[in-house]
Amino acid sequence: MSKAQTLRLDRLLANLGYGSRREVQQLVRAGLVTLDGGTIEDSDQRIAVTRDLSERMRVQGRPLDPPPGFILMLHKPLGVTCSHKEAGPLVYSLLPDRWRRRDPALSTVGRLDKETSGLLLMTDDGNLLHRIISPRASIPKRYNVTLDRPLRGDEAETFAAGTLLLEGEDKPLLPAQMEVLSPTSAHVTVTEGRYHQVRRMFAAVGNHVTALHRDRIGALDLPEDLESGKFRILSEADLALVLPKAGSGALKTS
Ligand code: URA
Repeated sequence: MSKAQTLRLDRLLANLGYGSRREVQQLVRAGLVTLDGGTIEDSDQRIAVTRDLSERMRVQGRPLDPPPGFILMLHKPLGVTCSHKEAGPLVYSLLPDRWRRRDPALSTVGRLDKETSGLLLMTDDGNLLHRIISPRASIPKRYNVTLDRPLRGDEAETFAAGTLLLEGEDKPLLPAQMEVLSPTSAHVTVTEGRYHQVRRMFAAVGNHVTALHRDRIGALDLPEDLESGKFRILSEADLALVLPKAGSGALKTS
């Protein structure tokens, strides 16, 4: 296990969105920050940033927010956008307010369209994010697809061939798997993340996607008990289902 990073308490709390450094210093002076049950006296005390810090530190009586270097899964509802700045409801509005003031900021790991629901990962660890979305990682993402018209029967073969060209592109898609669920629904598993990929794949075979839901990334399933709009922080074991090669310690704050 690598040695934990240490940060000054005021820097740690300011970066987690608890206020400016001056505001955080006031919280500390007021005795509102505790570690392992004891009040912290100095806002310049250096704190080892470990994953269990949320269980050990309290701010105004509440457990500390997740320390930097974490990843969560969100059950993305329809109608919200994976963006920091577009108009309308954003995925970030489904997280606690303070989390929007974190530095480093949380970002989505890839994107789902506004009208796609399901499993979305979000992290504040840029390095981890890139490892997951890197084409080299080639992580499978499974979608439950509902179609406007019955399947023709040749779609699975077409998608698996690795020769399908999407409109406006000159590089064929990598092979993708399709499993028929009913005449108008299927599971499709892709390893790339091209713009509107699944919708455009079905457009390319003369169909139209009417509903799209991602239910798996790597071997990590969207839990059945995670309601739409809710999120859960990933454990090291959950993360290993997404990035099997990462090994333990993939989270910075292990
Ligand atoms: N493919 C799409 O068309 N949309 C998504 O949101 C994800 C994959």
